[in-house]
Amino acid sequence: MITLALVQTRPRFLDVEANWKAVAGIIERTQADLFVLPELFLSGYTFSSSEEVASAALTHDGRVFDAMREVSAVRGIAICGGYAEAAGDNRQTMYNSAFFIADGAIVANYRKTHLFYRESQFFAPGDSGFATLEYRGTRFGIMICFDWIFPESARTLALMGAQVILHPSNLVLPYCQKAMYARAIENRVFIATVNRVGRETNTLGDDLTFTGQSQLVSPLGEYLLSLAETEEAVQTITVDPVIADNKQLNAFNTILADRRPEMYRVSMQS
Ligand code: ACM
Repeated sequence: MITLALVQTRPRFLDVEANWKAVAGIIERTQADLFVLPELFLSGYTFSSSEEVASAALTHDGRVFDAMREVSAVRGIAICGGYAEAAGDNRQTMYNSAFFIADGAIVANYRKTHLFYRESQFFAPGDSGFATLEYRGTRFGIMICFDWIFPESARTLALMGAQVILHPSNLVLPYCQKAMYARAIENRVFIATVNRVGRETNTLGDDLTFTGQSQLVSPLGEYLLSLAETEEAVQTITVDPVIADNKQLNAFNTILADRRPEMYRVSMQS
């Protein structure tokens, strides 16, 4: 069994210190094995320029990562959330990334594969690929927000053995919370979509309202948690990841094993 805390926040734009402080307070007050946070929860989302992204971008050897590693070590917990990552020799390549920190170490760093809207002006396309990791007997996979609209993202993680998909998000369209219901049942996995709330504008004319409604969907198609649309919220839930290992739908059908990849080849019809 593993206890997840879904932490739905309203970040202060570009105020990394304040955003971390708020989350550190939540972690201090909440009992859970793993805290799941939104995409870009330390910086906010609606950037106007690469300079703004750079001003809030983090490296793994900086103060905020030190603090997150320390909290995870002292509390014996894991934290997964999204951040603007400064990488490369001169720390000038920005990725929209998500970390998984457990017991004082960065266990995984995923760089968003499918960039949404203006993100491609500020971030490099992720080059990490999808991967899974083991923590406290549970196999986790990570995808970020708009990865959802490509069913290949969740399917790839499921084929890699993920029992629980962690999905830090900054959703602005009205579809994802429903779509992830399908992703959970078609792959028979748990999916924790953790979104933010609030509204942001930028100098480029964007005016974005984030849709909240963070949720945990089970492999059997149950909405086990569903948070508010406009308010910050924290909820914990304990799940048995082994439920995701049973891919048997009925006496004749086994999800994943029944796939027929040879039939999925794309060819031009004459
Ligand atoms: C998104 O990928 N933030 C919609």
